[in-house]
Amino acid sequence: MQQEVVDFLVIGSGVAGLRAAIELAPYGSVLVVTKDKPTESNTEYAQGGIAVVMSDEDEVGIHFEDTLKAGDGLCREDAVRTLVEEGPERIAELISWGAAFDREGTKLALTLEAAHSRRRVLHAHGDSTGKELARVLLNKARSFASVRKYPFAITVDLIIHDGECRGAYVLRDREIIALYARATILTTGGAGQLYSRTTNPQVATGDGMAIAFRAGAQLEDMEFIQFHPTSLYSPTAPQFLLSEAMRGEGAILLNSNGQRFMQSYHPLAELAPRDVVSRAIMSEMVNTGSNYVFLDLRHLGKEFVKNRFPGIHATCIQYGIEITADLIPVSPAAHYIMGGVKTDINGRTSIRGLYAAGEVACTGVHGANRLASNSLLEGLVFGMRTGQAALSSPVKPAATVPAAFSPASIRDHDEIRHVLRKIMWERVGIIRCASSLSEARERLVEWRVITRRDYVTRRELELKNMLTVSEIIVHAALERKGSVGAHYRSDYKERGEHWQEHFSWDRQTVEMGYRELDARGREAGRSTNG
Ligand code: SIN
Repeated sequence: MQQEVVDFLVIGSGVAGLRAAIELAPYGSVLVVTKDKPTESNTEYAQGGIAVVMSDEDEVGIHFEDTLKAGDGLCREDAVRTLVEEGPERIAELISWGAAFDREGTKLALTLEAAHSRRRVLHAHGDSTGKELARVLLNKARSFASVRKYPFAITVDLIIHDGECRGAYVLRDREIIALYARATILTTGGAGQLYSRTTNPQVATGDGMAIAFRAGAQLEDMEFIQFHPTSLYSPTAPQFLLSEAMRGEGAILLNSNGQRFMQSYHPLAELAPRDVVSRAIMSEMVNTGSNYVFLDLRHLGKEFVKNRFPGIHATCIQYGIEITADLIPVSPAAHYIMGGVKTDINGRTSIRGLYAAGEVACTGVHGANRLASNSLLEGLVFGMRTGQAALSSPVKPAATVPAAFSPASIRDHDEIRHVLRKIMWERVGIIRCASSLSEARERLVEWRVITRRDYVTRRELELKNMLTVSEIIVHAALERKGSVGAHYRSDYKERGEHWQEHFSWDRQTVEMGYRELDARGREAGRSTNG
């Protein structure tokens, strides 16, 4: 097996990974591993912007309160405080590295998104904020000779020795390579591809969560999946995010009969929290027998819309929708996972030498529901802090005896992926209940064998990871018998007794969960059979 020893191994090249790599670069060799090209991440596709307090009309205390409110009582306050207090400095630094945020005159232009009580969302090139961040961070990372990129290499598993993380095995060109490091930093992003409707790119298959789980790390808050209310719905177009900033600028939602409906669901109407808007849309879709509702920007003026949302305008035109003149068919889609690998506010996981930041991590900063546009800021703030913490990793970079892999293959893996995504959308989606979750669990049990084997293709490894993460989400969603934030149970509409608890999961607790559920199933079987 090919081997290499570096100081720091960063897995993933979105905002959190690049920011961590930049922090580590002066202190040793940094290898940034990505399973695709380095620009292919959720960061690249982020439209709306980045929430931060940069104006005299705003205060960090208000950003703090808005974040807590959106998080519906489950945010960890130290993480939120860190985010809102350190955010302005990270943005000033980014501007000094060349980030060109949109301006109105000499001042930074700020937009509004749902559940923000001030205009505080910075944007770039109208609706291509993530692309601008990725450009600046990649350029900055390139300026250090110590940072090397390692594209098209998917991480198979972490190297765990004596209970500490010593690096990772990656797969490149069907060959497994052992990469040893004194600190391994997971920044692999989210898991939107678990769902058949998602705003996330193809790469978002939950890999980091799955490999950390297999290595024995704790995951937390996995039941909390945020569904974005407005993703393009068209049989001839790909799923495509229609930024919440459009509603922030005054776009409205109409049901398929052309009636505005959000005012009857929430006093903030179209700018109500995302979970409220997504559920309202689902309910309108059911009531009108339609697969979509409409987003309407026609009243905002042609020139304004074209200038403010040039990327969205150009994409929709390709599919025959002129957003300045036509109603846009939209429906909700999986967008962001609030849970992930449990970390402290310095990115430390439950395994020595293993760190995580960004969407793959769970600091508790988003609680049960993320405030819009807080995630790019999260990547910057916690990416930097994680880089700093990784500098003092207690692990020595040293090669160990490489693990033996016995590769298998999965028959019909594309079909299983398709069915899994459909089940997750229909049974573990915006509205869940015990019976829908149990049905999902039954299918996952049938596929468990897949999660226990080794594979040598990216698609198969992704499927293994997707199945693992789905299992944990289903367990967590079954366990939370109450509705909080983005987790909505139609059979437990109230918060429930222990709603302020966070649920953590590792290999043992998931196994225990299975055993308990099986025992309960047998018990129920016995009582039904008399
Ligand atoms: C959007 O532009 O609507 C997405 C912003 C976010 O999810 O933070």
